[in-house]
Amino acid sequence: MAKKAKNARHRANRRIGRAARRDLEDAYVTARNDEHVAQSLGLPSTPGGWLTRAAFKLFELDEKCRFLTPQGKRQTIPKVVVDLGAAPGGWTQMAQSAAEGDGDSRGSIAPPTLFALDKLPLAPELAYQEGVNFIQGDFLDFEVQDHLSSRIHAVTNIPLDQPGVDVVLSDMMANTSGNRITNTAASLSLVMAAHHFCLRNLKVGPHSWLVIKVFQSEEAMRWRKAVLERCFDSVGTHRAKTSRVTSPEVYWVCRGHRGGGHGALEEAGNHESGF
Ligand SMILES: C[S@@+](CC[C@H](N)C(=O)[O-])C[C@H]1O[C@@H](n2cnc3c(N)ncnc32)[C@H](O)[C@@H]1O
Repeated sequence: MAKKAKNARHRANRRIGRAARRDLEDAYVTARNDEHVAQSLGLPSTPGGWLTRAAFKLFELDEKCRFLTPQGKRQTIPKVVVDLGAAPGGWTQMAQSAAEGDGDSRGSIAPPTLFALDKLPLAPELAYQEGVNFIQGDFLDFEVQDHLSSRIHAVTNIPLDQPGVDVVLSDMMANTSGNRITNTAASLSLVMAAHHFCLRNLKVGPHSWLVIKVFQSEEAMRWRKAVLERCFDSVGTHRAKTSRVTSPEVYWVCRGHRGGGHGALEEAGNHESGF
């Protein structure tokens, strides 16, 4: 009898927990367009609202790791930021706003030159904005990656043989199916492609960053250990509070690009051919 009552209490608590989390998720949706709700949750607001609630994930990650709004004299302000899987543009908005300062304690620094890429179109109010360079295309297509690299060099005037990007952000995710294995494999292909792009385009040194969404899996963790952890000084895992509780996504925040040395390129080749 006592056990039955305990189980019933446990089920009720779980239901309340789920309901509370759903309410919080709804609040994040409202916070996109309601500055009072945003303020009550400790989130920034922007005139006209954020295009996606995902914008808050980038805010949270940057609050923790400070790749867009560096603090402390030793850190440098990013000049060139690439936003992969950018549509409709919540992260692009947040990357701009974080740099410009949004009236709170984040201060005011010159906005970086942004390069946004997605298969889908970016919201028109962003796509044609000064400082935002948008390319529509499939990032898994090498020609599209080359096009993005050429555009970065053309706009920034950085010589072709030098990497010119300070921060690569990737919120890319292919359409998910009910199959976890397919979803994690699709996620890892995008992560590998973003890393491949970093090898040519991300500056080498302590102030460069790759911030990337991944669906965690054993295969992803093996690849991270064999390749990513050799190519960066540090790799951390962060789960955004604003991610849906049901989502398997986490973000890997990689700091201090070392380039493709340390045997990482051979490992990358082995993994890509075996995948
Ligand atoms: C979660 S959404 C990104 C939301 C975005 N960060 C925002 O705040 O507006 C994931 C995006 O990844 C894009 N994507 C997925 N696979 C891609 C690929 N191979 N090439 C380019 N974009 C891709 C999708 O089109 C989708 O817009």
